[in-house]
Amino acid sequence: MSAMIEVRGLSVVFDGFRAIDGIDLTVEQGELRFLIGPNGAGKTTLIDVITGLTRPTTGEVVFDGRSLVGLREHQIVRLGVGRTFQTSVVFEELTVLENLDLAASFRQPLWSLARRRRGVSDAVAGALEITELGPLADRPAGVLSHGQRQWLEIGMLLTQGPKLLLLDEPVAGMSKDERERTGELMTSVARDHTVIVIEHDMEFLRRYASQVTVLHEGRVLIEGSVDQIRDDPRVQEVYLGRKPSDAVGKQS
Ligand SMILES: Nc1ncnc2c1ncn2[C@@H]1O[C@H](COP(=O)(O)OP(=O)(O)OP(=O)(O)O)[C@@H](O)[C@H]1O
Ligand SMILES: [Mg+2]
Repeated sequence: MSAMIEVRGLSVVFDGFRAIDGIDLTVEQGELRFLIGPNGAGKTTLIDVITGLTRPTTGEVVFDGRSLVGLREHQIVRLGVGRTFQTSVVFEELTVLENLDLAASFRQPLWSLARRRRGVSDAVAGALEITELGPLADRPAGVLSHGQRQWLEIGMLLTQGPKLLLLDEPVAGMSKDERERTGELMTSVARDHTVIVIEHDMEFLRRYASQVTVLHEGRVLIEGSVDQIRDDPRVQEVYLGRKPSDAVGKQS
């Protein structure tokens, strides 16, 4: 295995405040890695740095053997890094299909857009299939449920042929059924992509996570399997501040 993304000695200082304070993180090709940590731990900031939204104060980010520091957001997308945000970015008036088409067009050369395309491209068809949104293809995105909207966003990323997907709290606010469907979608996406998922829901982690990285106050507190992090007293202390038994949802 080789590293898909390597973060070394990363720090981000906002007006004297260290949001990221010396993070080293390696995620191998084909991994489905979960990133957890209390509010303000630096999870979103870490993704912001990888995707070029925030410049690191110090440190290096190497994606697929190439440094990303200093590149613009669209350059990083074109290299194969896709992300979702904590808030939705779909166009509500456009249909599911149109949203996917628009996302897909982002990586195509201009000449191919100028040619009239007939039918649905392979990338869009693939995204409709994996997200199971095919039956809703002609509905405006505005009528989708919260869960369906998240799946559409993941589908939109997939049309751009990313190697790495960064998902920021994709199951927040979802119903139980939607969470389950999202876990299955992530698992199938991770078959041929590297995926980093920020998630707080411990029930969800127990079910779908293997490797977990816990961030706290801008640092990596511990990395390991769900069982390892669940049983670690440091995690219980800082992550939820509750008793070990219910801190990370341990079942008796
Ligand atoms: N642009 C910014 N300017 C100043 N401070 C910021 C900025 N972005 C983030 N921060 C601060 O950096 C810290 C880390 O924020 P971040 O959004 O990365 O946390 P998080 O782990 O994603 O938390 P949450 O679980 O609430 O989403 C927080 O204290 C936040 O207030
Ligand atoms: Mg966040």
